[in-house]
Order: sequence, then C-alpha cells, then structure tokens
Amino acid sequence: MPFFEHLRDDILAVRSRDPAARSVLEVVLCYPGIHALILHRLAKRLWRLRLYTISRFVSHVARVLTGIEIHPGATLGRRVFIDHGMGVVIGETAEIGDDCTIYQGVTLGGTTLTRGYKRHPTLGCGVIVGAGAQVLGNFIVGDGAKIGSNAVVVKEVPPGATAVGNPARVMLKEDQQRREEAAAKMGFSAYGLSPDANDPLAIALHGLIDHAAIQERRITELTEALKRLGIEVEGVTPLGKDPRLLDRLVD
Ligand SMILES: CC(C)(COP(=O)(O)OP(=O)(O)OC[C@H]1O[C@@H](n2cnc3c(N)ncnc32)[C@H](O)[C@@H]1OP(=O)(O)O)[C@@H](O)C(=O)NCCC(=O)NCCS
Repeated sequence: MPFFEHLRDDILAVRSRDPAARSVLEVVLCYPGIHALILHRLAKRLWRLRLYTISRFVSHVARVLTGIEIHPGATLGRRVFIDHGMGVVIGETAEIGDDCTIYQGVTLGGTTLTRGYKRHPTLGCGVIVGAGAQVLGNFIVGDGAKIGSNAVVVKEVPPGATAVGNPARVMLKEDQQRREEAAAKMGFSAYGLSPDANDPLAIALHGLIDHAAIQERRITELTEALKRLGIEVEGVTPLGKDPRLLDRLVD
C-alpha cells in the first residue's frame, strides 16, 4: 500500500479516536504513534529484504525518537493507533489487527525464549489495550476485546470481552448481562462481575456475597413475618432495604 494512503489512514484514525487531536498538522507533528508507524513500515521492508541489522537499527532509532519499540518482525494492520506511546513494546512475532488502539506503557511480549516459534500475542480487529497493560504469550485477543489499564493478560480473551486485573480476569458480555438480570431479580449485584470470571478469589468472594445477600433477605422476611404474628425478635439488625450495603463491605 502506498506511503501516503497509509499515512492518511493513520491520521484519520487518530482524529476519530483522540478528542484532543485538533488538526491534521498537529497529528503529523505531535503524535509519536504516527512517527513510530512510519518508521516501522520502513523497518519492516528492510526486514523482508533480510537486511536484519539495518532494520533493527531503524526500529531502534524509532524507539529513541518516540519511546515506542516495535520489532520489525511484528505485523501491524491498518489504522492502528498508538496513543502517547512512551514505553510501548511490541515483540517480534506479535500481530495487531486493523483499528486497534494501544496506549502508553503496553507490552505485547513473549514468555518463552525459544527461537523460531510464535511467542507473542495476536490482537484481533478493534482491540483496545489500556495504558500499562501487559499482554504476554502466544494467544489470541479476539476482535473488539478490551484490556483494562495495567491488566496482566496471560491467556486468550474472547471477542468482545473485557479483561481487567492481575492476573486478568475475563468478563464476557453475555455473562455480565446474565448476572445483571439475576441481580435485578435478587435486588443485589455483588461487585457486578461475572461468576465465570476466571479469578478464583473473585469467584469465591462473589459467591459468598451473593449467599449473604440471600440470607439477609430471608432473615428480614422471617423477622417481618414474626412481627406480624406479634413476636418481636431482638438483636437482629438487618442491613436495611438497600442490599448494596454488602457491596460497600468489600469495596
Ligand atoms: C477496561 C476498560 C476498557 C473498560 O471496559 P468496559 O467493558 O467498559 O468495562 P467497565 O467500565 O464496565 O468496567 C467493568 C468492571 O471492571 C472494572 N475495571 C475497569 N477497568 C479496570 C482496570 N483497568 N483495572 C481493574 N478493574 C477495572 C470496573 O471497575 C468495573 O467493575 P465494577 O463492575 O465492579 O464496577 C477501561 O476501564 C480501561 O481500562 N480503558 C483503558 C483506558 C486507558 O488506558 N486510557 C489511557 C488514556 S491516556
């Protein structure tokens, strides 16, 4: 694809995804992500010509100028936007789909030292990787997935899902919806997280909170029933009508 078509795509991507970008000139002059992409394309050409050392040198110059390190072997799609950029590291066998957004401090890194294998992650299209997130290993982050800032992701993230925390727990859209529906029935949403989130501590905690919420409601119902029969139960102080009080206990 010709240089200027790429550049136009990159500029449009910045302007559509960064409300701070005021003009094309500003984007061309002041966005290190744009400079890094231009130099990466040059490095990539040299890499394909097997001019490995000069190619790495171009990548190194880009790093010095922008703070963004993209290995020339990495494969980037169209309209990738690296915002701010400082501290971004993209490894040799990483692949990034079209329309991805990557913030400062992100690593797309490897976890093995074995040469000749794919060691780095593959991002699908439209993935957002928040500032400081570390995505480590050879797995796929599905189309439209979101990685929260400072997350440490070490396994696959399904399309459309959100991964947050260290180690990252995955929140699937449909699970979040299902849980919200259940919470609406119960009048309570423990932490708002999916029971299928893959953090065992979080799963245990949410299970306990849900259980406590059900018990709380039953105790309230029983004391009210007893009261109607003229029996006052002393020493029972329910949390009140707002079961979200339990949420605050774990906040
Ligand atoms: C993860 C992110 C993409 C939001 O995705 P989302 O699918 O809209 O998720 P929500 O905002 O509904 O959050 C879902 C839950 O994850 C939590 N969460 C969100 N981001 C988180 C993070 N980075 N770390 C830990 N937990 C996080 C939320 O608090 C929420 O929990 P709750 O339901 O108990 O309140 C966003 O929070 C994020 O981190 N974006 C990166 C932005 C960034 O790096 N900007 C830099 C600009 S310079």
